[in-house]
Amino acid sequence: MDRDTIISCRDVSFRYDTDSGEEEQKAVKNVTVDIQRGSFVVILGRNGSGKSTLAKLMNGVLIPQSGFVTVAGYRTDEEENLFPIRRHVGMVFQNPDNQLVSNVVEEDVAFGPENLGIEPSEIRKRVDRALETVGMKAFASHSPHKLSGGQKQRVAIAGILAMKPECIIFDESTAMLDPRGRREIMDTILRLNRNENITVVLITHHMEEAVMASRVIVMEDGSIVRDGDPKTIFSDVPFLHEAGLDAPQVTELIHLLSEDPVLSERFSFPKGILDEEEAARFILKLFGKELYGRNQIGARLV
Ligand SMILES: Nc1ncnc2c1ncn2[C@@H]1O[C@H](COP(=O)(O)OP(=O)(O)OP(=O)(O)O)[C@@H](O)[C@H]1O
Ligand SMILES: [Mg+2]
Repeated sequence: MDRDTIISCRDVSFRYDTDSGEEEQKAVKNVTVDIQRGSFVVILGRNGSGKSTLAKLMNGVLIPQSGFVTVAGYRTDEEENLFPIRRHVGMVFQNPDNQLVSNVVEEDVAFGPENLGIEPSEIRKRVDRALETVGMKAFASHSPHKLSGGQKQRVAIAGILAMKPECIIFDESTAMLDPRGRREIMDTILRLNRNENITVVLITHHMEEAVMASRVIVMEDGSIVRDGDPKTIFSDVPFLHEAGLDAPQVTELIHLLSEDPVLSERFSFPKGILDEEEAARFILKLFGKELYGRNQIGARLV
């Protein structure tokens, strides 16, 4: 394994043990994937495709029945490694309420490092720094229960940061938030990745979040079926639909236009348009000439 890899999965399979007596399907099947240090990876896939199971395999919460996972060189199937693994890879879940353990924000953030046996003066520093990083320092002595969803989730992220992980896995951490809370968390995640050089693995059903990643992995039925940069992944809209996913709205719009026989004969449609401005430019190219005798409209697009 090269030094640039933080998490490595080799031919990993996992099947849940249930009491039903029936042989359960594998939740993750023969997955081989490396996560590069400093990268921002999004995992997409319909409900039940194995995203959360893969995430739990990636930080040693679950151990594969076949194949193996290493985190920063530590194999997850060796029990003495679990402690260092949890320090390298933190996880933030969907429901912030389930992740808060104390009645005071700063005590909550201190909980993780306390469990790691860090000395108090160092904990103090880490808590301050973590709350500052997520923009919640002003709330240090508040009760987390009175905060908004986005603020609670930022406190939960600070709790992970205080353990100084190299990588954080976010499993639908924006799913229960309103648009504002979602933006708060996405801004925080982007900042952690770009400024703190923390490796991010983000599981999401929001395509607008996936566009921000450096790499998008698509899962179906326990397997990785696509793996590439966002532009490449979102270029193939019919494939995404088959995998139970949408592309971002603007990408869907351009794809719909491209299916019109008259338009598609007259114009060559670019694939994988991901942002509004790019889409607006293209639409103006379609209609601009005939309507205005020029290719652009409005000051912003000149
Ligand atoms: N604790 C469990 N016990 C038994 N089966 C489980 C358990 N958790 C998940 N599964 C099954 O494993 C498969 C993969 O589930 P997983 O939770 O990994 O999917 P997911 O992609 O995270 O889905 P979602 O988008 O709904 O969160 C599914 O068939 C699911 O029913
Ligand atoms: Mg899940």
